[in-house]
Amino acid sequence: MTKITAAITAVGGYVPDYILTNAELEKLVDTNDEWITTRTGIKERRILKGEGKGTSDMGVEAVKDILRKTGIKPNEIDLLICATTTPDFQFPATSNVITDKAGLSNAFGYDINAACSGFLFALTTGAQFIETGKYKKVIVVGGDKMSSIMNYEDRATCIIFGDGCGAVLLEPDIDGYGVVDSVLKSDGSGRAYLHQKAGGSVKPATHETIDAKEHYVYQEGQTVFKFAVTNMAEVAYEIMERNNLTSEDIAWLVPHQANKRIIDATRIRMGLPEEKTMLNIQRYGNTTNGTLPLCLWDWEKDLRKGDNIVLAAFGGGFTWGATYIKWAYDGSKYHQ
Ligand code: UT7
Repeated sequence: MTKITAAITAVGGYVPDYILTNAELEKLVDTNDEWITTRTGIKERRILKGEGKGTSDMGVEAVKDILRKTGIKPNEIDLLICATTTPDFQFPATSNVITDKAGLSNAFGYDINAACSGFLFALTTGAQFIETGKYKKVIVVGGDKMSSIMNYEDRATCIIFGDGCGAVLLEPDIDGYGVVDSVLKSDGSGRAYLHQKAGGSVKPATHETIDAKEHYVYQEGQTVFKFAVTNMAEVAYEIMERNNLTSEDIAWLVPHQANKRIIDATRIRMGLPEEKTMLNIQRYGNTTNGTLPLCLWDWEKDLRKGDNIVLAAFGGGFTWGATYIKWAYDGSKYHQ
């Protein structure tokens, strides 16, 4: 029997217009452009402005981008999985809101929350629905409105994060293109170092939790940094080894954009030069679930059929992982 793989056949994306620069952050907190640039690589990030706008509004634009490119009709999509840590609501799922707003009338959907690794977890999950032969068109969205849980008085976190959303379309392939392999990991004992203290079932919102600013991102940066540097590099190396990939075989590393120093450590462990490493952290900051699909979106025009691509992520939870993809199309066809 012919093996079916899940090929990415188009990428969509959306970043809000508003640009929050390091210079503007200097006015909000005690920081400076030099510190932010050398410690993180970030110059600016995008912020979603506007009353009543949430993660779904960016997700809808990313989905529409895919539909516009491919000419696929909204009602042809079977399933939409949304990876997000900043859902529109506690419930219903943001995927439901996106399918409704984008007119995906035949799609079912659900959300996945694995913090910054969420897109990889969702991509791997979405791929399985294609590989079984049961579904033909699956969209995986990854994105966050991190500004909605950001304390713009906390210089340790507010300089890092931004808003944005990307999406990929998965379709069946019988020539081996698409998602080849994934290594996904989590260690819940890491939850203490990166989380949101209140707003869940353990500590529902009260006046006190609001006053204590417990609905914002809490991060012990140095600890997270140490785990991220080691684990993202190791898992990326592991997926190379078990697929017999040398650094020459790899066309692109697509790393989670949390800190340029973490990206460099991963790239060096894999033996890759900077030219093969996607880097847009300077423009978007850390968009959590959005970083990986937004890289694919920015670089789509440069991707060639047959390119070996390794995606790698590390995030809250802790969660981390790497995915090996054999790229299925010349991206230039959508960028004439
Ligand atoms: O997205 C997935 C998960 N997240 C990550 O992967 C993020 C991992 N962590 C990091 O990227 C880094 O730890 C940060 C960028 C968050 C912080 O960089 P760092 O090099 O680890 O700095 P630090 O926390 O060790 O702080 C060093 C110094 C401290 O001052 P003292 O105690 O040495 O006087 C901080 O108070 O830098 C100070 N500092 C700042 N100074 C200027 C912290 N934040 C700032 C700031 N501007 N924004």
